[in-house]
Amino acid sequence: MENILVIGGAGYIGSHTARQLAAAGYRPVILDNLSKGHRQAAAGFDFELGDFTDKACLERVLQKYNFAAVMHFAACTEVDRSVKDPAVFYQNNTAGVLALLNALTAHTIKRFVFSSSAAIFGEPKTDLINENHPKSPINPYGHSKLMVEQMLSDFDTAYGLKYAALRYFNASGSDESGEIGESHSPETHLIARLIQTAAGKQKGFTIFGTDYPTSDGTCIRDFVHVNDLARAHVLALGKLLNEPASLCFNLGSGTGHSVAEVVETVKKVTGRNFDVQTAPRRAGDPARLVADNTKARKVLGWQPTYDLTRIIQTAWQWETHRKY
Ligand code: UFG
Repeated sequence: MENILVIGGAGYIGSHTARQLAAAGYRPVILDNLSKGHRQAAAGFDFELGDFTDKACLERVLQKYNFAAVMHFAACTEVDRSVKDPAVFYQNNTAGVLALLNALTAHTIKRFVFSSSAAIFGEPKTDLINENHPKSPINPYGHSKLMVEQMLSDFDTAYGLKYAALRYFNASGSDESGEIGESHSPETHLIARLIQTAAGKQKGFTIFGTDYPTSDGTCIRDFVHVNDLARAHVLALGKLLNEPASLCFNLGSGTGHSVAEVVETVKKVTGRNFDVQTAPRRAGDPARLVADNTKARKVLGWQPTYDLTRIIQTAWQWETHRKY
């Protein structure tokens, strides 16, 4: 059974991926500082408490297990916070990962799955964004991720590191088991916030920006279920381990939904009505981000299986029975 280090495996996407790794016959070992993650989300797996940027901690974990590959999820992800406090993002998401890659190189661990982001593209030049689309981030979060993609490419050339860079579009929804789900504090993501509003845990909802060049003036995003994303990780890992070659994939459903449309769908699915206000644009938000997922379908055999309604159903189910 191959050991896979899952950094940030107690977090939202990491915990869903760890479960699927185990189901696929791998042994996930979770390293998480629990700053955003939840201990319950890692229940049943080998768990190491600590920060991947703590050199001694990382060294201890790398020595304790023999890892076939590393998956890295532990990142700061809020776009508007990155505009206000870029230093944190460059420190954790970029400098932290450089130190991590150096440690992996020293331990001759040469397989790496990286949580990249649609934010590396900036304002799209085409309706659907494929892997070759120009990369021109419009916020520090996107820059912090793109810099790592550049480092990975250079580490491949120089040291033979083989990696999969997975550019997530908007991860959403929760596992249907009800055991794990999305739980951020504070919650900033669109669907999770709407669900909390529908549940009465948040008063009213605010749409940021109604003057975007889109059909209804609100931003358009591509919502992809967290379990679909998790499956893409397992497929990408299998590919990396079997045919070592570095790859990148845009992971989205391929369908765009406007913020206003998502608001209406949440009201419909939950059967709850709530106040919706509008406010000016949020800093750093591109008008539209929708994936062309052809490459992931062809090369990985990946297929997103949840549409917006089902994503919202799973998010609602989690919210009404949440464990953490
Ligand atoms: N939005 C609102 N009101 C809210 C919350 C969000 O109108 O209360 C809007 C945002 O302004 C944006 C859209 O909903 O237009 C989606 O916002 P999210 O915060 O849910 O997600 P982002 O698209 O900003 O970012 C997410 C991840 C990033 C990732 C990106 C890729 O947080 O890490 O998706 O598309 F890079």
